[in-house]
Amino acid sequence: MSFATGLGARNLLGTRARDTEFQALVTAAAQTMQSPAPAPAHIEMRGLSYGRDGVPILTGIEADLRHRRIAVLGRNGSGKSTLLRALCGLIEPDAGDVLIDGVDVLRDRKGALRKIGILFQNPDHQIIFPTVGEEVAFGLRQTGLSKREAHARARAALDRFGRAAWQDRATATLSQGQRHLVCLIAVLAMEPAVIALDEPFSGLDIPTTRGLTRMLEQSPATLVHVTHDPRLVADYDHAIWLSGGRVAEQGPAGDVLPRFEARMAQEGEADAFADLPG
Ligand SMILES: Nc1ncnc2c1ncn2[C@@H]1O[C@H](COP(=O)(O)OP(=O)(O)OP(=O)(O)O)[C@@H](O)[C@H]1O
Ligand SMILES: [Mg+2]
Repeated sequence: MSFATGLGARNLLGTRARDTEFQALVTAAAQTMQSPAPAPAHIEMRGLSYGRDGVPILTGIEADLRHRRIAVLGRNGSGKSTLLRALCGLIEPDAGDVLIDGVDVLRDRKGALRKIGILFQNPDHQIIFPTVGEEVAFGLRQTGLSKREAHARARAALDRFGRAAWQDRATATLSQGQRHLVCLIAVLAMEPAVIALDEPFSGLDIPTTRGLTRMLEQSPATLVHVTHDPRLVADYDHAIWLSGGRVAEQGPAGDVLPRFEARMAQEGEADAFADLPG
């Protein structure tokens, strides 16, 4: 059973608890839970450095990660979005490299597509097609599916999120939050080993955020989640705290997050804008 089917079971929970079909789903879900989860992806960032116009943005990033849920935190301009782009092979570092399960994401673009999908901070940097169906199908086409199969999978993905009616909807007519949701559906539909999320819930309402959080919880993918809100990643396995393009701290989220929060509170009391880069 896929995680999306699992979400279907959760949706049914509130409304059709006595239904026999529901009982069958619960049994299937219980069986699924007994099967071992896939191992987390192995993410290696080795000596990653990147700059623009002579200004360093990332410096000497080292990480060797085998965790299912990874949080990335840091102040505005600390390099979080740049790090995610490098992680996906979308920018070429000046030094160092990124391997996901041994795939060099910069040099093996086809391999990288199966390994990692990214949700950009701004949906307008992501959406390129005029309709929602085409947008969701595009990523699937890139993974090597035929046009027909990609469109069928795109329709199924929209249906799973209760957005079947958006199939032919013009992306430009959706609200910002709705466009963000389309991008997230497109990434989830590709089922990559790693999903990189850059502030995935900014602009989304509370019920949508909760639904997506549950869906991501059930996803077998490894998550790398950039956020300003430590509460959203409180139960994550690992946290990376970036400061000025360097790793200030990384380790178990339970250790790093309280120190990060304390520092942010402290800096908020001081001159909060004094050391913002950019
Ligand atoms: N293309 C670019 N050219 C020049 N400077 C850039 C470029 N992209 C990013 N930067 C700079 O690099 C730094 C890190 O930017 P980045 O977008 O990675 O930060 P961030 O941690 O994601 O911030 P936020 O929390 O505001 O999203 C910033 O100082 C930014 O101005
Ligand atoms: Mg950012």
